[in-house]
Amino acid sequence: MYLTKEEERTYDGEHGWANQKSMEILVRLGELFQAKRLIPISSAHVSGVSYKTIGDAPIEYLEALANDHAQVKVNATLNPQSLDHEYLGKKYGARLRDKQLIILRQFERMGFTQTLTCTPYYLEKQKRNAHLAWAESSAVVYSNSVLGAWTNREGGPSALAAAIIGKTPDYGIHKAENRQPKVLVKVVKRLQDETEFGALGAHLGRILGDRIPTIRGLDGATKDDLKQLGAALASTGMVNMFYRGNESHSKNLDIEERIVLGAEDIKKTAQELCTASTEKPDLVIIGCPHCSLNEIKQVANLIGEKKVKTETELWVCTSPCVKQRAKKYVKKIERSGGHVLEGVCTVVSWTERLGVKTIMTNSAKTAHYAPTLSKADAIIATKEKCLQTALRR
Ligand code: F3S
Repeated sequence: MYLTKEEERTYDGEHGWANQKSMEILVRLGELFQAKRLIPISSAHVSGVSYKTIGDAPIEYLEALANDHAQVKVNATLNPQSLDHEYLGKKYGARLRDKQLIILRQFERMGFTQTLTCTPYYLEKQKRNAHLAWAESSAVVYSNSVLGAWTNREGGPSALAAAIIGKTPDYGIHKAENRQPKVLVKVVKRLQDETEFGALGAHLGRILGDRIPTIRGLDGATKDDLKQLGAALASTGMVNMFYRGNESHSKNLDIEERIVLGAEDIKKTAQELCTASTEKPDLVIIGCPHCSLNEIKQVANLIGEKKVKTETELWVCTSPCVKQRAKKYVKKIERSGGHVLEGVCTVVSWTERLGVKTIMTNSAKTAHYAPTLSKADAIIATKEKCLQTALRR
């Protein structure tokens, strides 16, 4: 891989150990994928922030980088953590809270903004065609497909290295030729709600491999619907982007396969995501990916004056920044007995320690991961249905 003189100096250690290590990671990755060079990025988003997911070993590496004065060179943001300090931190206890804080502290020392969200795109606009190094798969799909920015699906370490160097290897969907759709998907059922968009994503993720689809029949989809589609697509498979297409858009493409999906396919996938045999969840979760301001407003309006049942928990997850913007809706949700958790991903939290056995959610991604990562059965339902279940009549 070609390196500029300055990059070579970093690689040789002239700019310190942390920069050298980071450069080594990028060069190894680039060589693995036959990248010819590094390209500048405008933003890096790092996953692997939750203590539950990373455990103790990487903390030492983060500390070593920070001790060596590693500093991010671009706008650098963080994925959600395992707990919030107001609510779950108290439930899980001091040891887990302190470990989580140590991790955040190291990122802070390196200059990361404590965004703690999988929807960094609500906090800062990304320019079309901007090159990014993002590691959260749902944000990667959203960024490539909805925002028009360009990013591979980074791992936590490569996104961290890219943040420190300010560059990423030029391969994968940083290159226009690799962003061509290969599969034309026609959805003949009009999708009604976010769970159907999620089910479509989960179904496509399973059958597409890493082939990019053009999906026809998404008319009327909101950005929140597309967020659910993309998150599910990335969780069941390796697809990192999709196009929304019509006949003219798809005419001259080099399409390998055409797929028609109808109501039965969507229904079957949604049923497969429901693993619970009960209709009574212990925990209702809305906010995977993290809620937009509009979604929080919808939740607050749907709650109205009602109260959450004593036997059920209601968690609405969002970023600290969006929670701040949504203050009046947050108050309403909290008055009902629900909890608006900031900066938390419930999938990488310890819900099993709270005795949660059944999770109800409007997110196909949470439903997909619940049985393995949360050791819980899942029920997938619209946010209206989720709230009906969580609230007293
Ligand atoms: Fe976000 Fe966690 Fe869902 S990172 S997309 S809330 S699994």
